Amino acid sequence: MKKRIVFATGNAGKLREIREILGDMDREILSMKDAGIEADIEENGSTYEENALIKARAAAAFAGPEDIVMADDSGLEIDYLNCEPGIYSARYLGEDTSYRIKNRNLIDRLEGVPDEKRTARFVCAIAAVLPDGRELTSRGVVEGRIGYEEKGNGGFGYDPIFQLPELGKTTAELDEEEKNAVSHRGRALRAMKEKLRKVL
Ligand code: IMP
Repeated sequence: MKKRIVFATGNAGKLREIREILGDMDREILSMKDAGIEADIEENGSTYEENALIKARAAAAFAGPEDIVMADDSGLEIDYLNCEPGIYSARYLGEDTSYRIKNRNLIDRLEGVPDEKRTARFVCAIAAVLPDGRELTSRGVVEGRIGYEEKGNGGFGYDPIFQLPELGKTTAELDEEEKNAVSHRGRALRAMKEKLRKVL
């Protein structure tokens, strides 16, 4: 039987991206749910890496003895707002508040702020817990700017306000493959794949 990577996420979009990037590792890639793992995990770390490790360790406690367990944590950092919402990106203005409202609020908070001060980045950390207990982390970043209005229908979350100046588009205006090529998660996943290759 193929060895497995269990990814601690319930997000179908993330899982597609993960399968795309880690697909050549000759492992079956499962979500926590696919692997029959249910854990209510409190993300109380103070960095993306800590939160990713908390999730990966919690899932690893229920995983099989040969499974690699991975998790990610990500967020949007806006320089002008002292890197808010950062690790609180999902919880910003409340977990159940729509991104229409969250995005509108961030644009409003940048009212009158000129282009060069609207710099922001998406950050993603990936953590992996190996069967022998070793732990690895990787990080990916994509730099951009906060726009003046929402643009595009792709992606999710803060994508409609996150502009990539060199492409002249928001990440919500990219198709899935284009976004994976430049995204923080894509970069962190490719960095993790390299780290795993070296230790496995
Ligand atoms: P988590 O890593 O699933 O906890 O996600 C953190 C939050 O960061 C998400 O709920 C989004 O608000 C935001 N975020 C992370 N990655 C992206 C992205 O690729 N596009 C838009 N928003 C993102």
